[in-house]
Amino acid sequence: MPKDKTVFFCRECGNEFPKWMGQCPACKAWDSFEEAPAIGTASGKKSPSRGKADRAGSASPVKLSLIDRGEEERVKTGIDEFDRVLGGGIVKGSLVLVGGDPGIGKSTLLLEACAKLARKKLNLLYISGEESLRQIGMRAERLGCADDDIYFLAETDLDAIEEVVQKDKPDIVVIDSIQTVYREDISSSPGSVSQVRETTGALMRLAKSMPVTVFIVGHVTKEGTVAGPRMLEHMVDTVLYFEGDASSPYRILRAVKNRFGSTNEVGVFEMEGDGLREVRNPSEHMLDGRPVGEPGSVIAASIEGTRPILAEIQALVSKTGFAMPRRTCLGIDANRVNLLLAVIEKRMGVQLSGCDAYVNVTGGMRINEPALDLAVVTALLSSATDKAPGDKTVVFGEVGLTGEVRGVTRAAQRVMEAQTLAYDCVIMPQVNMKDLGPHTIKVIGVGHIRELKPLLLGKK
Ligand code: TYD
Ligand code: MG
Repeated sequence: MPKDKTVFFCRECGNEFPKWMGQCPACKAWDSFEEAPAIGTASGKKSPSRGKADRAGSASPVKLSLIDRGEEERVKTGIDEFDRVLGGGIVKGSLVLVGGDPGIGKSTLLLEACAKLARKKLNLLYISGEESLRQIGMRAERLGCADDDIYFLAETDLDAIEEVVQKDKPDIVVIDSIQTVYREDISSSPGSVSQVRETTGALMRLAKSMPVTVFIVGHVTKEGTVAGPRMLEHMVDTVLYFEGDASSPYRILRAVKNRFGSTNEVGVFEMEGDGLREVRNPSEHMLDGRPVGEPGSVIAASIEGTRPILAEIQALVSKTGFAMPRRTCLGIDANRVNLLLAVIEKRMGVQLSGCDAYVNVTGGMRINEPALDLAVVTALLSSATDKAPGDKTVVFGEVGLTGEVRGVTRAAQRVMEAQTLAYDCVIMPQVNMKDLGPHTIKVIGVGHIRELKPLLLGKK
């Protein structure tokens, strides 16, 4: 009886529901539901035998103190930014999902990693269901790794893929992308919820049983016609997202889940004509070509992962020509900016409700950190009053609803980054002043956003 049971899955978030709904209650996506057999019933006759290997041995409990807690076996790719996000290298037998928008550079990153690993004499298999061998060859040529020892296979049938992996026993397999792989015994089309779930499940079993490290590429989809990588997040060991703005060359690799490391790390890359280049000092690159002495431009000290990154926040405040003022934000949460606009208006008496406001984090980076608040407020005020803050001033701090400036984490690290990059002044929360170690840079502590005004008014 349960064999026939069907449930509905949201293609965007992967949550399961007993009935069809027009809008997903969990992620609010519209028309994202897809009918699929309940877990375990889709695999038909193959699933019992496949499931067995997985369960073998798990029936006898093991005492915690007797469990082997040795370090995981890791291989470094040699791309430092990639290794750091992985938690120090690739763990043998792990399943890693690399998600991101189409065209962001997922295939490029994985091919470059393969090339580096091939030079370490590892056995690599790159399976592509998206591109022909010729196209891959051309990309390899462009990346300068055409002569490396990597094996390619253009295949989308999971059974054939499993067979090759079991026969050739590679150390690392790349599946590009999971949305093209299918299992013949499942009737729905490749990219559907049931196909993506079942093929990922099978690859997980393959990864653990061989063991072989498997990287799967998953496209983030806007239209919702194929299942997105978010619904796979709970199945895999590690989830990395490759982010960036199509108009900017900067790319950020972020771990959102990692069973073998921290999720605090980010890797920064720049897409160039011949592949991805590691950006070892992101602050310098984020600030490349920034306007000097212009109102509305402020340098914020943010922390990405464990590294401080200085980023430029730009704001433009101008009289609106619309009945409803426009509020547009790039790289920063728009709700947060609206809240800060309201705080400025109420607590400082600066009229902004009749103004359009645009806020942008330059460099194509997305930053979601409350420590950016004070820099956003400074940028908005600076544009509204047409006074530029000092060129060599860095700002950070959280702003509360009463206009108070609240403390943030890692204040000392942010100040040191500003000092290292030859800035001469930091405006920061008063409460964090006690956390600072020895420093030579001038530091101004503020307790309320009102205190910003005299600091800005001093400048032209
Ligand atoms: P790709 O890795 O194919 O993206 P994904 O696999 O995420 O869909 O990269 C696609 C884009 O990157 C493409 O628009 C061209 C650009 N690119 C470069 O700028 N330089 C390069 O060396 C390569 C290989 C690609
Ligand atoms: Mg690709």
